[in-house]
Amino acid sequence: MLKAVYEERGPVPEDVIHAVETETPAPGPGQVLVEVVAAPINPSDVLTLTGDYGMLPPLPAQGGNEGVGRVAALGEGAEGVSEGDIVLLPVGSGTWASHMVTEPRRLIPLPAGADPQQLSMITVNPPTASLLLSEFVDLQPGDWVIQNGANSGVGGYLVQLAAQRGIRTVNVVRRESAAEAVKAAGGDVVLVDGDHLAERVAEATGGAEIRLAIDAIGGEATDHLADCLTEEGTLVNYGMMSGEPCMVSPKSIVFRDVRVRGFWLAKWFRNADRDRQKALFGELTALIAQGKLKARIHATYDVGDIKQAVAEANAGGREGKVLVCPAHGG
Ligand SMILES: NC(=O)c1ccc[n+]([C@@H]2O[C@H](COP(=O)([O-])OP(=O)(O)OC[C@H]3O[C@@H](n4cnc5c(N)ncnc54)[C@H](OP(=O)(O)O)[C@@H]3O)[C@@H](O)[C@H]2O)c1
Repeated sequence: MLKAVYEERGPVPEDVIHAVETETPAPGPGQVLVEVVAAPINPSDVLTLTGDYGMLPPLPAQGGNEGVGRVAALGEGAEGVSEGDIVLLPVGSGTWASHMVTEPRRLIPLPAGADPQQLSMITVNPPTASLLLSEFVDLQPGDWVIQNGANSGVGGYLVQLAAQRGIRTVNVVRRESAAEAVKAAGGDVVLVDGDHLAERVAEATGGAEIRLAIDAIGGEATDHLADCLTEEGTLVNYGMMSGEPCMVSPKSIVFRDVRVRGFWLAKWFRNADRDRQKALFGELTALIAQGKLKARIHATYDVGDIKQAVAEANAGGREGKVLVCPAHGG
């Protein structure tokens, strides 16, 4: 089997991660062997390699936080799953690998007919998009929200979920070439970030009141969104793609009492009860299985090409997510 591991963290993520070959383990009593089908490389995975994420595993570590697999073999007495089942891999289990051995209770069965590559991205970005829309401002059909990084994985899910809930979106991207895909996903307004964003937003929305702004970027991009909010509007930062501290002008904070909040899915997982988590993931799984919620895929790589995969995932200008899809020889 192949697995992607790292012994140290460093500023260039592809320098620290590397693939190693080991013997494929046999499942012990009560265990199952799972073939990994697909596992995304998210910005949080890159930040984990560079040491900049909010929680870091002890070293040495295996890369990959989420993913989907197929049950390949059952150890003696293993129950709850069958050979061939498509399952969600345990969060944080080191999913950039061709195989893993685990216990059936740690696996969540997924719909057999659904696209496993789409399902492999379900744990992190779809719930983030859904919760950003529901946890901060009581939005009603017809209301507007504004987000930047709109062509990202989270941004794409947010556009689709907002449209399904009757909420209208202003979507900010940082390059013209990203706009078309956001429009195609159902974005109502798509604008390129830059000067006079608030004026351009007002013109495009007919002066609509915007009570929620969703920021994945930080730096000046945060201020541009804050500028578009109505009095007492809420700005939620959930990402640091620019690597810069969020800027918000006192003009927004003082004169319009704009409120700045943060969102971290890991904290939501810690606080939300099991029923709430089950309900959210049940809804999102059904939407993905029905093809009503999806993310674009830029490229797929075998585990052996993990350095190239991570470098590509860390580069700007992609047209979707980079996935690790181990080659299993057919
Ligand atoms: N807080 C949470 O719980 C939580 C949960 C999930 C995700 N996130 C965060 O959400 C953000 C988006 O994640 P994702 O998986 O959706 O991302 P993604 O699909 O990998 O897309 C990355 C996005 O960031 C933009 N970008 C890249 N470098 C940038 C830079 N230097 N300045 C400005 N924009 C830049 C890209 O624009 P181009 O296409 O133009 O390069 C693209 O829109 C990340 O910061 C991630 O860590 C947070």
